[in-house]
Amino acid sequence: QAFSLNFSLLSKFINEDEKFKYAEIISNIHEEMHASTSKDKGAIGWIDLALKQNREEVDRILSVANEIRDKSAVLIVIGIGGSYLGAKAVQDALSPYFSKQTDKTEVIYAGQNMSGAYINQLLQYIENREVYVNVISKSGTTLEPAISFRVIKSYMEKRYGEEMKNRIILTTDPTNGLLRKLAKEEGFRSFEVPADVGGRFSVLTPVGLFPLAVGEIDIKALLDGAKQATNDLMISNFKENEAYEYALSRYLLEKKGYILEIMASFEPSLRNVFEWWKQLFGESEGKDGKGIFPVSVTYTTDLHSIGQYVQAGKRQIFETILHIRNQKEDHTLKYVDNNFDQLNFLENKTFHDMNTIAKNSTILAHYDGEVPVIQVEMNQLDEYHLGYLLYFFQKACAMSAYLSGVNPFDQPGVESYKNNIFALLNKPGYESIKEELEERLDQ
Ligand code: PA5
Repeated sequence: QAFSLNFSLLSKFINEDEKFKYAEIISNIHEEMHASTSKDKGAIGWIDLALKQNREEVDRILSVANEIRDKSAVLIVIGIGGSYLGAKAVQDALSPYFSKQTDKTEVIYAGQNMSGAYINQLLQYIENREVYVNVISKSGTTLEPAISFRVIKSYMEKRYGEEMKNRIILTTDPTNGLLRKLAKEEGFRSFEVPADVGGRFSVLTPVGLFPLAVGEIDIKALLDGAKQATNDLMISNFKENEAYEYALSRYLLEKKGYILEIMASFEPSLRNVFEWWKQLFGESEGKDGKGIFPVSVTYTTDLHSIGQYVQAGKRQIFETILHIRNQKEDHTLKYVDNNFDQLNFLENKTFHDMNTIAKNSTILAHYDGEVPVIQVEMNQLDEYHLGYLLYFFQKACAMSAYLSGVNPFDQPGVESYKNNIFALLNKPGYESIKEELEERLDQ
């Protein structure tokens, strides 16, 4: 199996009867999610996106990506949250740890922070290197990407003159927002974020696919994996649908006080896949005083930092450990004559063998430390399996949020801080909030 979960280590914490009480509820949520009359129809377009994938759109993505690869050394992707985390996750998971390759278009990111040093250094970094830009914002109004785009657009104008228009590609809502207006009025090329797909569910739209294609990721294989997951996870019975069993297990654990989920892996290249996962679950579930707080770690590195807490700190943590069964690349430990480090007992063991043993040892230790552990196995780390994983977690996340009674697709909490920023930065229309906020800051 390409991707599978094992819930056996939860039996000490949740019994099967408890789970079966939710069978009908899950099945009803499933029917509602898939119904053409679903109450969240306007936000659930991701659910069968891979099945409906438009071949012409994929071909257009690949053709513009080829042009960029021919003509530029750097693609700057400007976006924040769901507008960049998916692409970065897949790109980093499939890129070498160290690379001297200089003939490849490098994909770098901007607009995901408000650091002046970052934008200055980015401008210095692209000097003397040919540049294209992809601005991604569904709303077109998010401040962080908007200010970076203003800076980078001015730079591109100065450097490329009229050609700048050909070098900036917009990814945004099909009809609304300032970026769509810019595309229409000034003739920038653009891709569409489907109206019924929100930021954190958009990795399999041009939001993720276009930067990935520029980075030489096989987006067709990524979509094939997602397609397989879409078909596999179409069943309403949670015992035959691991995304739903995962969602249900999390829900029941949260009810028992396990309010923190650690997503762990023993492969450092998954670090940004987990950043994507954290946003997906954190922003979808953390509402109305509910939700599990998503955290991620890379073992064995973090066993030497917060590992102690996981083993023996306050018992409110459960862990989901993602293991990659087969590694494309490995290294074997050799026998040395004088056994200076007394490690000859490891002769002929590969790093992957030892890492797998470290994983099994950690699972047993954490289980003994009263940490519920969910085990996820992925056959290998490639586009197909990552496509499967991305869809798996999207489906699980929607079910999980619905189970706890929150809307997976809005983010009212994110809006609160955005309103405060706009008010304190004097955006017209926010005057009354500004006064009140400034008084509070003066106190
Ligand atoms: O998941 C979401 O909806 C958010 O994280 C958005 O992706 C993020 O806020 C960026 O929004 P936008 O693409 O409108 O700039």
